Amino acid sequence: MDLPRGIKGAPDWLPPDARAFEHVERTVLDTAARAGYERVRTPIFEPTEVFARGVGESTDVVQKEMYTFLDKGDRSLTLRPEGTAGVMRAALEANVPKTGGLPAKWAYAGEFFRQERPQAGRQRQFNQVGIEALGTEDPVVDAETVLLGWEALQRLGLHELVLRINNLGDREDRAAYHEHLNAYLDRFDLPAEVEERRRLNPLRAFDSKAPGMAEIMAEAPVLSDHVSEAAKAHYAQVVELLEAEGVPLTHDPQLVRGLDYYTRTTFEYQAANLGAQSAVGGGGRYDGLAEDLGWPERFPGIGWALGIDRTLLALRTDGVELPETQRVAVFVVAASTDLAPQAFALTSELRRAGTSADLACDGRSLKAQFKAADRSGARYAVVLGQREVEAGEVTVRDLFTGEQRTVARDAAVAEFLEG
Ligand code: HAM
Repeated sequence: MDLPRGIKGAPDWLPPDARAFEHVERTVLDTAARAGYERVRTPIFEPTEVFARGVGESTDVVQKEMYTFLDKGDRSLTLRPEGTAGVMRAALEANVPKTGGLPAKWAYAGEFFRQERPQAGRQRQFNQVGIEALGTEDPVVDAETVLLGWEALQRLGLHELVLRINNLGDREDRAAYHEHLNAYLDRFDLPAEVEERRRLNPLRAFDSKAPGMAEIMAEAPVLSDHVSEAAKAHYAQVVELLEAEGVPLTHDPQLVRGLDYYTRTTFEYQAANLGAQSAVGGGGRYDGLAEDLGWPERFPGIGWALGIDRTLLALRTDGVELPETQRVAVFVVAASTDLAPQAFALTSELRRAGTSADLACDGRSLKAQFKAADRSGARYAVVLGQREVEAGEVTVRDLFTGEQRTVARDAAVAEFLEG
């Protein structure tokens, strides 16, 4: 019988890579927590309409990439392809717009699903860490979110980073611009797919990868030339705040991003070294999303998501050393197999005292136990010998320096408790 295999594009994360993964996830969440963003958890699946309406019918994500299925009650459900629509759905369902204390500053991390062609940095199941600030249009919050993503990536050591930013204006600014853009696009014989999509949203012509489209779009009129004075003033403040923080910005009037909900400030963090899948993260304002989902009035928001897989890829390509985290702090070694119960008791006691501790099993030789101790990354081995056990003592060996000393068993536990 063949062994079952995992799904292509749905990676397994095993040690030590899983450790690096966690380091990235934790660093980003911690950066968000320092700014008061609280963790939320929303379901991995949602009614399909959350994404069809939220992300938009004209997008690649909704047209081609969603894992959508009928459940046994004939409801159309979709594995979340992104986080923002679900987070907004949850906020509206909980009546957050009316409960005061806005903005709500939320962070999330988890699995997302898109049926794309798997390649380096593009998976079918991937992980994002994201933040969303809901219920404010203040440009300070735009600057805060953009800066937090930048700083999280800096903290991780990703210095070869380009921050592209654009102003997509408000929905109300779009009608006149769409006319301009459509008049321009009418001059070309466009691929059928682009024709179809631009009927739904002419901006989508900017993300088409069809041959010849990049050349056509390079000359196309850009939205940032057609936004209102209010949107321009808002963007100018965001830029000023970010420049005062020393964040290097690359203004990119062609940056529209692939999801329909974006308005005003829109941005992407790109790793200079990643080639095709260079966006390690991106985000923007989505002041019309709540209304798209059926909320009766405007409820603005802004946020981003960073992809863990691509961030790790960028860190590796840059040769950034990730911190070697130890599996446990202390490794208990028994000099003979008949001391296994004492070793077990001491290990359990250390764990209860708050230290991470492990021990070897299967009656390994002393040499094999020390090898296991080294492999665990533990700084200290606590060695139990017959004579020491009788005397109520243990030997503590510093595995980094090789120094060792004999101490009372209880004192050893207390020592690691403090450490
Ligand atoms: P997004 O640009 O579609 O935005 O995805 C954000 C990041 O998720 C990407 O930059 C990339 O690192 C990662 N990512 C996306 N698709 C894949 C994939 N197939 N494989 C590996 N990584 C991937 C959003 O999802 C928005 N919800 C971000 C946002 C939050 N906007 C406002 N708030």
